[in-house]
Amino acid sequence: MALTSYSSVVAIALLFSLTSSSSADTHEKFVHCLYSYPLNSTISITEVVYTQTNSSYLSILDFSIQNPRFSNASSKPLVIVTPLVVSHIQATIICSQRHGMHIRIRSGGHDYEGLSYVAKVPFVVIDLINLREIKVQIENNTAWVQAGATLGELYYRISEKSTTLGFPGGVWPTVGTGGHFSGGGYGFLMRKYGLAADNVIDAQIIDVKGNLLDREAMGEDLFWAIRGGGGASFGVIVAWKIKLVPVPSIVTVFNVARTLEQNAAKVIHEWQLVANKLDEGLTIRVNLVRVNSSKNGNPTVLAIFESMYLGGVDQLIPLMQKSFPQLGLVKEDCIEMSWIDSVLYTAKCTRGQPLEALLHRNGNDLPFFKAKSDYVRDPIPDVGLQGLLRFFYEDEGQDAFIQFTPYGGKMNEISESEIPFPHRSGNIFHINHMVRWREEGDEAAQRYINWIRRLYSYMEPYVSKSPRAAYVNYRDLDIGVNSDGYTSYRQASIWGHKYFKNNFNRLVRVKTKVDPLNFFKNEQSIPSIKSKGKGRNTKVEILGAVNAFIK
Ligand SMILES: Cc1cc2nc3c(=O)[nH]c(=O)nc-3n(C[C@H](O)[C@H](O)[C@H](O)COP(=O)(O)OP(=O)(O)OC[C@H]3O[C@@H](n4cnc5c(N)ncnc54)[C@H](O)[C@@H]3O)c2cc1C
Ligand SMILES: *[C@@H]1O[C@H](CO)[C@@H](O)[C@H](O)[C@H]1NC(C)=O
Ligand SMILES: *[C@@H]1O[C@H](CO)[C@@H](O)[C@H](O)[C@H]1NC(C)=O
Ligand SMILES: *[C@@H]1O[C@H](CO)[C@@H](O)[C@H](O)[C@H]1NC(C)=O
Ligand SMILES: *[C@@H]1O[C@H](CO)[C@@H](O)[C@H](O)[C@H]1NC(C)=O
Ligand SMILES: *[C@@H]1O[C@H](CO)[C@@H](O)[C@H](O)[C@H]1NC(C)=O
Repeated sequence: MALTSYSSVVAIALLFSLTSSSSADTHEKFVHCLYSYPLNSTISITEVVYTQTNSSYLSILDFSIQNPRFSNASSKPLVIVTPLVVSHIQATIICSQRHGMHIRIRSGGHDYEGLSYVAKVPFVVIDLINLREIKVQIENNTAWVQAGATLGELYYRISEKSTTLGFPGGVWPTVGTGGHFSGGGYGFLMRKYGLAADNVIDAQIIDVKGNLLDREAMGEDLFWAIRGGGGASFGVIVAWKIKLVPVPSIVTVFNVARTLEQNAAKVIHEWQLVANKLDEGLTIRVNLVRVNSSKNGNPTVLAIFESMYLGGVDQLIPLMQKSFPQLGLVKEDCIEMSWIDSVLYTAKCTRGQPLEALLHRNGNDLPFFKAKSDYVRDPIPDVGLQGLLRFFYEDEGQDAFIQFTPYGGKMNEISESEIPFPHRSGNIFHINHMVRWREEGDEAAQRYINWIRRLYSYMEPYVSKSPRAAYVNYRDLDIGVNSDGYTSYRQASIWGHKYFKNNFNRLVRVKTKVDPLNFFKNEQSIPSIKSKGKGRNTKVEILGAVNAFIK
């Protein structure tokens, strides 16, 4: 391949950073570089480069924005590239280094903080929307999935080939496999089969030098890092090879709801005592929302016990009577269906819709949102739960959504260092705290964000400590960010240990090896300890980091 050698790219990039130039210059030179890049493909790159003056630019940018909180961002990409082939990505990576552009990589666009399409520096978005081929190989229960494919597309393609195979990924169909698998990825099959990332067996990534690497070529360290460490720090992931898992031809779903007046708090209390110990084929999560009571119209909190069981209702009922009788589940609450129908049902809460609904990529009319995550290791005492429920009665709690997802089962059997995702045994459940609103403007946003920040500090005594753990796929910039233009080990370890615990240091080591100059960076990217920001000396810090590795 006619790739420019790495050292000359670096030399040019360094030279460039010394000369000042306007961003208009930058992006013109960058686009020129893309157009003249020697492609290993007959498919021209000129068809997939969108500058801000292009009439399709905004619709391409907006299409995958899944949190409208960032639709108004003033810092938009100078260029969007929607690659059709690998060499379009290689060209973008190399030309970006030559011309001082940063890269943001977008697959499904669900990043909670918009990091896949917002940045404060001149940048290009590599949007993988055109790379979404899925090859299901039923002969050996595997599939190759391009990173731009969504979960819904993946589940749909599996179901075309088999009614007894599935995959343990997330629930929401528009989520992209690129971001989702690289941060972990969980859904209703987690207690039986672990995370999506636990079931990845090979991958293709393009590194900072533009090389396309599979598992063998990238080596086990990098392959480890991209299964849970967040992809965006290491390169552009093009495709995953995954292991499909068996599912029965019939599964059972139910949604049983209780208001506070119907003893919801008591049932949640009992749920906390059993949720992570139930049969691993049974997952019952709890969704908390505010509703108006049907009796008197006054606001109350509704707890929805949302569940999927890998088996028929006749096995489920006795299991529930034995393990969780307090919910009072009866046969009439339950619906038997195929696994793929349950995927659609749990996502959209509808039945009878054609499965093609799983292929729709755009969730229209989305609310603004801000979310956070927590891990619960000891049952939250009733008084703690009461205080949490009180937040729903504030104005900002009107459309809030809090979800408890039980761990246990397979999650207890996988070691904390198997992949970078460290949240394994000892957790009863995981919380997704989310506030949603529709009022426009900064003032409203600030009010809702303050609400969830208060709720988060209220929860501190009841959740994991040292560190207060968080799930990287529920990205939250409040827990710490890298400084602009400079990624310090010490500063990154504040958020890094929350997401990755002791795996953070290994992630830093891998990053330092594969991207020593820290080209792939964002507000929460893994630091390279050799990286030097503009004019700052980091000797002491590097020593500290090295010492941390040795232990
Ligand atoms: C409505 C909604 C429902 C969700 N449901 C679930 C759920 O059920 N279970 C669960 O575990 N999570 C869930 N999530 C969280 C989701 O897993 C993460 O937001 C995930 O990172 C999204 O991936 P994406 O490709 O859609 O997002 P993007 O915004 O495209 O990417 C997220 C991050 O990954 C990076 N990235 C994306 N693609 C690549 C690539 N090809 N190579 C390298 N880096 C890449 C991006 O740069 C960014 O930093 C949900 C999120 C939302 C908004
Ligand atoms: C282009 O890439 C393909 C596979 O990636 C390879 O087989 C082929 O030899 C390459 N062609 C050139 C001209 O480099
Ligand atoms: C916009 O960009 C696309 C893709 O590069 C190109 O095909 C199209 O001609 C451009 N349109 C305009 C009006 O510049
Ligand atoms: C899996 O099956 C496909 C054919 O669908 C084949 O190309 C591939 O080599 C098989 N892989 C293994 C590991 O057997
Ligand atoms: C609940 O009642 C309030 C006040 O009467 C009303 O504004 C709101 O729209 C109602 N919410 C729902 C979900 O019906
Ligand atoms: C987005 O910008 C428009 C126009 O400037 C403004 O009216 C609107 O309030 C903004 N929305 C948000 C969420 O800030």
